[in-house]
Amino acid sequence: MRRVRLISGSCVRAILLAALAPGLVASSLGASVFALRTTQAPTGAPPSVWDGVFTTDQAERGRRLFLANCAECHGDNLEGGEGKALTGDQFWADWKESTVGELLTFVRTNMPFSEDGSKKGTLPPSTYVDIVTHILKTNGFPEGVQELTPASSLGVRVIRREGPGELPASTLAKVVGCLVPQGAGGTWRLVMGTRPTRASSTGRTPDRDVALGDREYDLKFVLTSLTRLVGHRVAVTGLLIGEGGVNGLNVSSVDSVTDTCN
Ligand code: HEC
Repeated sequence: MRRVRLISGSCVRAILLAALAPGLVASSLGASVFALRTTQAPTGAPPSVWDGVFTTDQAERGRRLFLANCAECHGDNLEGGEGKALTGDQFWADWKESTVGELLTFVRTNMPFSEDGSKKGTLPPSTYVDIVTHILKTNGFPEGVQELTPASSLGVRVIRREGPGELPASTLAKVVGCLVPQGAGGTWRLVMGTRPTRASSTGRTPDRDVALGDREYDLKFVLTSLTRLVGHRVAVTGLLIGEGGVNGLNVSSVDSVTDTCN
């Protein structure tokens, strides 16, 4: 695999810095989610938060544990305070198109927050799982008959009821597609592109096997020539410009997957 690391201009770096926090979260999540994923045996359509992935009793336990361990910063009703809101628009902006497993891993790895980091990861494993079900319930997702477990949380998609939506602007995302020659304005373009997925999501279909789509993306702020990758199937990561990357990607890396594209 050939990799072209791109060097961004200074204005681009400013944008990147603004979005760094979620990016860091993303990369720290990746490894552990991947390690757990091998236990999952996917059958049929992947489950979503609308499938009843926790029980009423579990969410009630989670509510009490949340009040004891999290509410001082995130608010009694998850409305936010010193820490972010964990409901509503904020929840959707941060977790849409990710999975409950990724949410659990984030919370288990990083919370409760403390200046010196001494409190993160200190609660019992079951406490984290129960608290996550309280977050799900407060966001309006239905209860079911099976309790949520670390294993069952993997691959449970956080999506709108009406189905998968577009990733928000400025999400660090990945797309796979075919690189075509530069257009008149000097912009590199990707055609037959997939929908963007969060760069933090791991364990999905390998880049060489994913079904290509019909999306086209402008690859912005590319300061290196990509001529030798024209015609390749490439995987591109970068920040989405506009919802779903409608105005292109602010590119951070381009990887050749195969040297033809179909
Ligand atoms: C001492 C304050 C504090 C406590 C206690 C705390 N948090 Fe946080 N939490 C934060 C801060 C600060 C952040 C960083 C993000 C921000 O709010 O800007 C954060 C971030 C988060 C996020 C990511 C928000 C997002 O969507 O990006 C989640 C989820 C979260 N906390 C859940 C919890 C849970 C669950 C607990 C209890 C186990 C907890 N927190 C306890 C302060 C706290």
